[in-house]
Amino acid sequence: MKVLAIETSCDETGIALLEGKKAGGRLEFTTLKAALLSQAKLHAEYGGVFPTLAKREHIKNLPVLFADFKDEQFDAVAVTHGPGLEPALWTGIEFAKALAAERQIPLLPVNHMEGHIVSSLARPATGPDVHSSVLQNVRTIADVQFPVLALLVSGGHTEFVLMKDWFEYTLLGRTLDDAVGEAFDKVARMLSLEYPGGPEISKLAKLARDAKYPPATKLPRPMLHTDSCDVSFSGLKTAVLYALRDLGGMHTLTSEQLAAFASEFEDAVGEVLVAKSRRALQESGAKTFVIGGGVAANTYLREQLQKMVLDEFDDVEFRLPELSITGDNAVMIAEAALARLLLGNWSLEQPRSNLDIKAQGNLSLAPKVL
Ligand code: KG4
Ligand code: ZN
Repeated sequence: MKVLAIETSCDETGIALLEGKKAGGRLEFTTLKAALLSQAKLHAEYGGVFPTLAKREHIKNLPVLFADFKDEQFDAVAVTHGPGLEPALWTGIEFAKALAAERQIPLLPVNHMEGHIVSSLARPATGPDVHSSVLQNVRTIADVQFPVLALLVSGGHTEFVLMKDWFEYTLLGRTLDDAVGEAFDKVARMLSLEYPGGPEISKLAKLARDAKYPPATKLPRPMLHTDSCDVSFSGLKTAVLYALRDLGGMHTLTSEQLAAFASEFEDAVGEVLVAKSRRALQESGAKTFVIGGGVAANTYLREQLQKMVLDEFDDVEFRLPELSITGDNAVMIAEAALARLLLGNWSLEQPRSNLDIKAQGNLSLAPKVL
């Protein structure tokens, strides 16, 4: 079964063609072709994603990327219908609708966050010989032990979602204000670093840790001890602002202080996310833990979470996504659609949805259970 997927929820335009198979209990995804164009550089001068510009770029990029797929055959078109920036989502939806209508094949609406979860559960397939290299472009999902806890961390989201069984979600906690990626981006801006700020802060933080620079400031750990899996990052951002002011402003910082500042920020975020992940694992009795979204590329966070799970949860399997899949892309959208189709949750004969798909900026996987 082949699915062509389109992703335009934020500032990446992605198209991917995947073939999916079910063999025994495992799902196998082969990426036949994938194209991705990032607009991050264009948005950098606004210090964040500028929705009208994103829309214009997606409209321009989609036909260019699709040119390479136009002679391909596929059984369905999958498209991200939310959450994300509505003007951006609409561009992908309109393109997908036209394509599905022209080919007379089903159009499948995919939740972007489900794409992050499903793709984080998948792992590169290896060849028949254990020592042979990883099979090119083949990823599989096998032996998933439920419940699965997912920590989703991106520019727009920070949430703990529990998947009790395939595609059955409960929200365990979320950010009460800024998403963690947004906090990285805003703090990076205060430190005069480029957008997207996550990778920039991360690089400086590593430098400070490796060189053992003295601390530049002490930042709070918001909601560390509260009795829930919710988090909050806006106070941390304000604390950075005040700390910078107290030190005499950003421009008085030495490069050592700047790096130490970045590492203290990353420590604060890491400490909170590790503590809340521990709580979510305890509360939910999850057997599998995954992280997904752009911030899941953060090396320090990956290491800290891995250490916590290894040290404290013998019976939990931690699946770390490959770096190539953490940021937004269309492969993850195709994998989510294929997983639903292969597991019988969707059918190509009776597509769950048709051509009246709408962009849903605030689409959520699950309501919050209080
Ligand atoms: O999932 P994503 O590509 O797009 C959204 O759906 O938001 O996530 C983008 C976010 C940005 O805020 C970016 O700064 C952050 O992910 N990010 C990182 C790192 N790489 C990307 N944050 C921290 N450390 C990183 N290495
Ligand atoms: Zn995302």
